[in-house]
Amino acid sequence: MIPLKRRKVVPSAAGNTGSEETLPNKFPQVVLFLLERKMGASRRDFLSQLAGKKGFQVEELFSEQVTHVISENNSGDEVTSWLESEAAGRGRVSAHLLDVSWFTESMRAGHPVQILERHQLQQIKEVEVSPFSAPSYACQRRTGLENHNTALTDALSLLAESAELRGEDGRGVAFRRAAAVLKALPEPVTDAAQLAGLPCLGGHSLRVIKDVLENGASAEVRATERSERFKALKVLTGIFGVGVKTAERWIREGIHSLQQLQESGRELNRAQRAGLQHYEDLNQPVTRPQADTVAAIVEEAVASVLPGAQVTMIGGFRRGKPTGHDVDFLITHAEEGREVGLMPKVVSRLESQGFLLYQKTTRNSYLEAEDGPARPSSNMDRFERCFSVFKLPDEAGAGGPNPWRAVRVDLVVSPIGQFAFALLGWTGSKLFERELRRWAGHEKSMSLSSHALFDNAQSRYLKASSEEEIFAHLGLEYIPPSERNA
Ligand code: CTP
Ligand code: MN
Ligand code: MN
Repeated sequence: MIPLKRRKVVPSAAGNTGSEETLPNKFPQVVLFLLERKMGASRRDFLSQLAGKKGFQVEELFSEQVTHVISENNSGDEVTSWLESEAAGRGRVSAHLLDVSWFTESMRAGHPVQILERHQLQQIKEVEVSPFSAPSYACQRRTGLENHNTALTDALSLLAESAELRGEDGRGVAFRRAAAVLKALPEPVTDAAQLAGLPCLGGHSLRVIKDVLENGASAEVRATERSERFKALKVLTGIFGVGVKTAERWIREGIHSLQQLQESGRELNRAQRAGLQHYEDLNQPVTRPQADTVAAIVEEAVASVLPGAQVTMIGGFRRGKPTGHDVDFLITHAEEGREVGLMPKVVSRLESQGFLLYQKTTRNSYLEAEDGPARPSSNMDRFERCFSVFKLPDEAGAGGPNPWRAVRVDLVVSPIGQFAFALLGWTGSKLFERELRRWAGHEKSMSLSSHALFDNAQSRYLKASSEEEIFAHLGLEYIPPSERNA
């Protein structure tokens, strides 16, 4: 028999138990794992919750940290062979293999009772566990475009989308974080046991992952895809200018499809009319060559109204994505102040050339509303943004029936003093940005926006003229755009 190894035990905040509230871990030397085999999922959930309430740490997945494996109606051999198949990989682990009687007696006592012979299925078992590890913020990880776990991340992303379409943003972010962790793994996951110790994988995400690994697909994902409500929300919010609130109202009024919307005679605003009119084009991915054609048009327009102004392609294309849902540009001028009033001039130039099917220029209320304390008050008003739909000539003559297609284009103008922040803030991915701001706030007591970085401890703004400097201010290793595809 191999002696039980001494091990460091991380307090239960480590996250594998999901978001359910539990008491702080009262018994740090004890980490429980309940075997579902023969016990059943609902009894296992019930017992896990009970243990959590009593202050025990319960792991959702078997891992190196587990000290006590609890099973019901299993022989020692059965548990051993289960552990061996479940925990295939590298690393070593040893744990007590115990009957549920030890568990129920401990729950009754309110503390782990002494292990007696009648509790033991087998003394100690050494098995192997997996090697994956990842830091918990996406902005601490490198995430290229290569994804070795698309079946898993597609499933989680679809559930994230569905949660967002239901207005459950917290749940949506949890699924997005879980997907992002899997995207960053260097190899395909073949067994859920390999995920032990990874951050951001809550109980719900793990259930989905196990379902996909064991059955090739997630039942919840299938049910969601088949749901009439999800399908209708997707179609309707797929119209440029239509958000979740509007789509929900229409669905309540019996409108589930584009045809029903058209027949209903609903009043549409200008954006929605353009969105409906160009629905097919705008739901067709924009290719890199098409993005380059847009860039040439924008650069020409900008140069003609403000020589020397600089145009940078941002968003997904800057991260190296081969396609996008739109094309994003950031415009600035090396001389602070010269960029003021630029957007309307660029827009009228593009309009006169016949490139705009739709445009709306705003003074960036999104950023004013969202960015909280890091608002450099006087510079704010200068930030201008234009949402537009371009009429893009089909230069390559791709052979299709249409001489042009509609493309969504976003333009942002920033003063040079905020350029690095704007560049970082608009390159994405959305999750990467969210995680940067969360890191800044939670770990550094700083507020990051697309305009500035404010250090709350020093009560001052930290200047930066490059993205590298901003990462350095934040105490983060520099991650280049191509590795921000979280
Ligand atoms: N963004 C923003 N405010 C918005 C919309 C977007 O700050 N109202 C930022 C996002 O955080 C992201 C960047 O602009 O960093 C690009 O957004 P978007 O074009 O929606 O996404 P992409 O990453 O470019 O993906 P896609 O290729 O699908 O366009
Ligand atoms: Mn984009
Ligand atoms: Mn965009």
